[in-house]
Amino acid sequence: MSTKVIMDVDTGSDDAVAIMCALLSPDIDLVACCSVWGNLPVENTTENTLRVLQALGSDLPVYKGCGDAMVKNLCKNRVPQYDPGVFYDENGKQLKGHYDYLDLPAAKRGPEAMDAPSFYVDYLNHATEPVTLVPVGPLTNLGFALTMDPGIVKNIKEIVIMGGGENLANISNCAEANIWHDPEAAHIVINCGAKVTLVPLDSTHAASTTPEDCEALDRVGTFASRYAATLSRERIAAQHAFTGGRVNSTAVHDALALCAVIDPSVLQDVRHVHCEIGFYDFNDGATIIDHRCIPDEPNCYFAYSADREKLAAMMREILGRGAKDIAGRD
Ligand code: BDR
Ligand code: CA
Repeated sequence: MSTKVIMDVDTGSDDAVAIMCALLSPDIDLVACCSVWGNLPVENTTENTLRVLQALGSDLPVYKGCGDAMVKNLCKNRVPQYDPGVFYDENGKQLKGHYDYLDLPAAKRGPEAMDAPSFYVDYLNHATEPVTLVPVGPLTNLGFALTMDPGIVKNIKEIVIMGGGENLANISNCAEANIWHDPEAAHIVINCGAKVTLVPLDSTHAASTTPEDCEALDRVGTFASRYAATLSRERIAAQHAFTGGRVNSTAVHDALALCAVIDPSVLQDVRHVHCEIGFYDFNDGATIIDHRCIPDEPNCYFAYSADREKLAAMMREILGRGAKDIAGRD
């Protein structure tokens, strides 16, 4: 039986791959996508989400969400974003992990009239069965929804979050981007009482996509597999430049979180832990795991690793289910 899922996305290159996996997997019954700020302004992430859906011939509803953090940016003293510098490819194009708009036809429709936090409250209050939530951007929409109506937890089966990192960071010296963008929302979501699984950088980097994986995705030959290869190659090029040539692979973070709903065994070394979110100074947005010999009560599952080969095989199999070309052209 397929799992009912609502995704929360800041699309975004790796978000786009995750959305395609959700749409094409027979094990996922995707109900809606909520858009949120993060990688890009929410106007862009909403349009990008609509573009991906349209490219796959889907008219799934998209609910536009929040354009800024719940409280973080009201304070002037929060730790600034790490700046990797500006790099260009041999044609003079700036290398980025996420370009302003996905290189797909512009969306012919807009988002639904209802905003994303209101959609969560409305949908979850009327749901006839519990739903799995897969937020792979800042947690602002869910932070607001759970504040508006904490009772919606009763209809949440699980929340699988792409976010956090214990031994790895990416946006400050100790924080991962999705948690760092809205730490207060992350605190609300992790402690809401639902089953929460964190898919942090520790696991997404363990399952990194290589240039050889991209070639294999190209050979699968569908629009979705080839587009996933294109997006991953762009991410690899940016990562290669940012690391001075040390890294020649990319963590397609959000796809791992979505695939973990399909097959939880793609995650490895999953520990039931107590996680605090840092709000101050250098720990702003950090996921701080309680390692004392008598820790506080666990509030989430934290995946310390992942099965690289399994994720690559899942992506080839799922994305291979799509059409040969963009919807309307095949
Ligand atoms: C997360 O931040 C975003 O850049 C990606 O889409 C992913 O969700 C990784 O830190
Ligand atoms: Ca994302």
